[in-house]
Formats: sequence, C-alpha cells, structure tokens
Amino acid sequence: MKALEGKTALITGSARGIGFEIATLFAAEGASVAVADLSEEASKAAAADIAAKTGAKTLGLGLDVSKEADCERAVEEAVKAFGKLDVLVNNAGITKDNLVLRMKEADFDAVMSVNLKGAFLMSKAAAKLMLKARTGRIINISSVVGQSGQAGQANYSASKAGLIGLTKSLAREFAPRQVLVNAVAPGFIRTRMTEGLKEEAKTKVYEMIPLGRMGEPAEVAKAALFLAGDGSAYVTGQVLAVNGGLYM
Ligand SMILES: NC(=O)c1ccc[n+]([C@@H]2O[C@H](COP(=O)([O-])OP(=O)(O)OC[C@H]3O[C@@H](n4cnc5c(N)ncnc54)[C@H](O)[C@@H]3O)[C@@H](O)[C@H]2O)c1
Repeated sequence: MKALEGKTALITGSARGIGFEIATLFAAEGASVAVADLSEEASKAAAADIAAKTGAKTLGLGLDVSKEADCERAVEEAVKAFGKLDVLVNNAGITKDNLVLRMKEADFDAVMSVNLKGAFLMSKAAAKLMLKARTGRIINISSVVGQSGQAGQANYSASKAGLIGLTKSLAREFAPRQVLVNAVAPGFIRTRMTEGLKEEAKTKVYEMIPLGRMGEPAEVAKAALFLAGDGSAYVTGQVLAVNGGLYM
C-alpha cells in the first residue's frame, strides 16, 4: 500500500521548488493534493502537471499565506474538494537578504509575515478541522539558518527560528487531540532560492557541508513524507534536519 493512500494534503508555496516536490511525492504516494501558491494560474498548472504524472486527485489554489482570509478560504476549498484535510505543509517562504544596517524595516516585516505569520495563520485554519477530527499532521519547513543563524539573513533566520518555536508550541497544544506538528530544517537545497548564489559562494558552501554537495528538493520531500505518514506516529515537536551534516 502507498504511504498516504486515502489521505489529503495542502502544501503552501508548492507551484515550484521544494513545495512542488513535496506535492508530487505525496500525490505519488496516494494522497489527494492541494497546490496553494501566490498565483492561481501557476498553482493550477502545477496541480494539473502532478495529476498527469501521478493520477492523483489535485487542486490548484491561489493564496497569500500572510492574509488570514486567504488561508481560511484555501482550507475550505481543499475540504470542499477532498472531504477532509489530513496534512498541512507550511512551505511558502521568501528571502529579502541584507546586512542588518542596510535592512529596511519593510524587508524584515515582509519576511516575518510570509514565513512565520503565514504558518501560524494556515495552522490555525487547518487546526479547526484537525482538532475536531482528532487526527492530523502539520509540517513546517524551517531552515538550517533558523538553527545556526546567518550573517545577511537576520530577518529570514529569525522567521525560521520562530517557526521552530511555533512548531513546538503547536505540538504541545495539539497533542491531546492526536494532531502532530513537526518541522523540517533543510540546508542548502538546489532551487530557485539558491541558484542565484555565485560559483565562488557555492564552492565555499560545499566545503562546509560534510556530505560535500547541495541537497535536492526530492530529498527534503522524503523527510516531509516521513512526517506525514504512519512511520512517524510517535513523533511530535521535532525538527528533522536535512542538511548534509552542515549543522549538527
Ligand atoms: N532552497 C533552499 O536551500 C532552502 C533551504 C532551507 C529552507 N528552505 C525553505 O523551503 C521553502 C521552499 O523554498 P524553495 O527553495 O522551494 O523556494 P522557491 O522560491 O522556489 O519557492 C517558494 C514558493 O513559495 C511561494 N510563495 C512566496 N510567498 C508566498 C505567499 N505569500 N503565499 C503563498 N505562497 C508564497 C512562491 O511563489 C514559491 O512558489 C521555503 O520556506 C524556504 O525558506 C529552502
């Protein structure tokens, strides 16, 4: 049997990158999947692509995770289409990097608003159903820099560290209803977010990673699959690092 047979999942920021890989793997493992991203058109295209590849039921939704009404509507639409919501993956994220003295207040707020507040709003919308159903999984995509800190990324690393605090608090709050909440903390993964790095910077990064290479989005997706499936039934409030050993 497939790992997520009969399950339904909503993944934010899944029109491309890591989110798209998670949505594709979940669909291949039997889940009905809602692709939710800023552009409705891109979400629908990604959803159609995943359905064609896997045969799964999919749905494409436009939403801005920093807006509460969008989050509530996305959860409602997923439930209308699939009948329930078993798994939420808070993957949508942005960067607005700069050294602190050059970082504008608006850049700090924008990153916190999408990366941290977005996960809070989506979790709140999904938890209403999950707590009632007495089952559910919430998976937050944090980052290695939320654990280690990173020069030039004060806003981003604070948002990702915040996600770890959110994960642990939600895990404690929702555990009595069997709703499990965990985080994945990827290291340097090959996506549009990291492809802008200069070759010199990439070489420096590889030298710091014990496994000597960047990770692939599919490798992060496999960690999310573990946290969504039966194999992790006794795991909550944890941070699963997928970073090639970069931070231990
Ligand atoms: N790539 C890496 O090396 C890396 C490392 C650690 C953590 N992460 C995290 O993994 C997640 C996915 O990153 P990625 O590398 O695939 O990036 P990406 O930029 O390729 O994808 C992010 C997606 O989020 C969407 N998005 C942005 N703002 C949104 C909003 N307000 N509402 C809804 N969707 C929104 C984007 O449209 C995009 O499709 C992010 O949370 C990122 O911080 C990435």
